[in-house]
Amino acid sequence: MTKPLRLELDRSAKTPLAEQIRKGIRAAIENGVLAPGARLPSWQDLAAQLGVARGTVRSAYEKLSAAQLIVASRAAGTHVADRPSIAARQEETADPGSFMEMYRELTAGPAIFQMGVPAHETFPAKLVARIRSSAIRVEMSGPAIYPDARGELELRREIAAYLAIARGIECTASQIIITGGYCSGLGLALRVLGLERRRVWMEDPGFPITRHGLELAGLSLAPIPVDADGIDVSYGLNHEPDAALVVVTPGQQAPLGCTLSLERRLRLLDWAAQKGAWVIEDDYLSELQLKGRATPALASLDRAGRVIHIGSFSKTLTPTLRLGFLVASPSLTSQFAEVAACLAPAPGPSVQLATAKFDLGQGRPGDTNARPVRTPEGISQGRPSFPRRHGPSAASRAAGFDGEAGANSASRRRGSWGIDQTSIRIGGKRGPIRYPDDAPARQGATGIFEDFRCV
Ligand SMILES: Cc1ncc(COP(=O)(O)O)c(C=O)c1O
Repeated sequence: MTKPLRLELDRSAKTPLAEQIRKGIRAAIENGVLAPGARLPSWQDLAAQLGVARGTVRSAYEKLSAAQLIVASRAAGTHVADRPSIAARQEETADPGSFMEMYRELTAGPAIFQMGVPAHETFPAKLVARIRSSAIRVEMSGPAIYPDARGELELRREIAAYLAIARGIECTASQIIITGGYCSGLGLALRVLGLERRRVWMEDPGFPITRHGLELAGLSLAPIPVDADGIDVSYGLNHEPDAALVVVTPGQQAPLGCTLSLERRLRLLDWAAQKGAWVIEDDYLSELQLKGRATPALASLDRAGRVIHIGSFSKTLTPTLRLGFLVASPSLTSQFAEVAACLAPAPGPSVQLATAKFDLGQGRPGDTNARPVRTPEGISQGRPSFPRRHGPSAASRAAGFDGEAGANSASRRRGSWGIDQTSIRIGGKRGPIRYPDDAPARQGATGIFEDFRCV
């Protein structure tokens, strides 16, 4: 049963009244005070009840409607939208204006056209469930011993091979640490680097979770503007030349979406090498691109070992895995392993082993090879199987950057992970994309999370 809605407005607060109304109604929906289908007063009535202008309530309703929390119709009035239950995670509310309030808003869902997460309807849930159940059986049937704190070797190998081909990074499995997503990788890197009170370049605008994470780790933020070529490296060099760290999203700047230009990449790396500064590369989208090809990772150009590359499976697979990885620069490999062992061990083996299955490329009988495909072009063209047991160096030597926005000359030449896969075979069988039998509805599906295939 729907409980009475009580909206309390603070007229002395800085938060506009429309925003207070929006947040109040949103909280009531999320806390279950307003159940799906519950009728809301018309904006005229609510304005009269609250003693505010009609436009104030209308504006709040419009935002709630845009967020698909309420549905307004002339005939039926305004109702709370039908949505899957999201009550469990919202058991307590965050302080108004706090970081956690912003975090909850950022991660709230589900919603149609929700930003920042893979398309749910193209997610092969049954297939993933099957792979995960079998990984749990493997985990449970083994001896009860402590797993490798850096993560399962099988997944670390797959990631090393993947990075060589897809991101141009030359690394070994021993440099890779499996993490609980990007955020946990960031925490691990900041612990290893130990840069409390030092200055850090932070993209402005930038990813708020990174910004707050850096503050929590005791670093002093130096906001660096971003333009169409990514973070303004000249600005940083002129204003903050002695910073100890920079955190960047070179592939697709968050939130503006631009790619860091080659010229800036090289200047940034030169500066880091000369000053002994560190660069954390947030490669949250990996090779996902809506148009064209992703540029190789910044880490692929790093000759001085100053870049710590952090990847995530939140966009390429699903954020519910809460899984990511970090590539330690060679000089820090053992520190990373120690800190992971003592302070931030990898998640349990089964989720890792299941994720490793997405990348198998050998096509052994009975293997299910499932992998996300990134570009819309990739859908129609088919693509090579995922790398497996192939040394990273050959692929990473081939990876290059020709300076054109979004263009990777080496991958175009080799077709190693792009669409014109004419000259290279990287494990597995080539051929049109095939889908598992239980996924017929996804044939031809598009979206960020685009397809899986069974070999
Ligand atoms: C800039 C940026 N970095 C990282 C992530 C992913 O973080 P995680 O792996 O913790 O889900 C996101 C997700 O939205 C992001 O926007």
